[in-house]
Amino acid sequence: MAIKPVLKMGEPLLLRQADKVEQFDTPELHALIEDMQDTMAHLNGAGLAAPQIGVSLQVVIFGFEKNQRYPDADEVPFTVLINPRLTPLSEEKEDGWEGCLSIPGMRGVVPRHTQLHYQGFDQYGTAIDRTVNGFHARVAQHECDHLQGILYPMRINDFRLFGFTDALFPGQAVVDD
Ligand code: NI
Repeated sequence: MAIKPVLKMGEPLLLRQADKVEQFDTPELHALIEDMQDTMAHLNGAGLAAPQIGVSLQVVIFGFEKNQRYPDADEVPFTVLINPRLTPLSEEKEDGWEGCLSIPGMRGVVPRHTQLHYQGFDQYGTAIDRTVNGFHARVAQHECDHLQGILYPMRINDFRLFGFTDALFPGQAVVDD
C-alpha cells in the first residue's frame, strides 16, 4: 500500500478521542492497517496509532523483534489491536525512555504501569485478551494513549528527563527520527 506522512505534535487531530471501529474485515480496514505497517516499518517504529496517519479510529499496531530505536528492549509480538480496553494490574509504575514518531528527534522518561491486561480485536474481529509486562506493557500504553489524544510528554513527571535524542545521548548512534 503506502507510506503515509506522520502527523506531528501540534496537529489538532492527535488530541482527539478516536472513534470506535464498527466493522471488521473490510477492505478499508485492511488498507488502513497495511498503510500503518508500511509507515511504521519505513520509520523503524515500535508502534503506530491510526490518528498518527490522520485517521481518527481506534486502531493501533505495535511489535518488533529487534528495534534500532529501542536496542535494549525485549521483543514484542507483532500486534494489531482495535477498540482496546486497558486494565492496569499494578499500581506500581516504572520509568522508561520513550520516543514517538509524532515527536521526532526527542526522548523522555515516562512512568508506566508494569503489568497490564488488554483486550480488543484484530482486523478480522477476533478477540484479543492478554496479560503483559515490561516493554510490551509500555508500548501498549503509549499506543493506546494516542487513541485518547494523549502524547507521552503529557505523562512526563520530570522534565529534566526530556530532550533531544542527540543531546541526551551524545556519541551514540541513534536513529534519526
Ligand atoms: Ni507515539
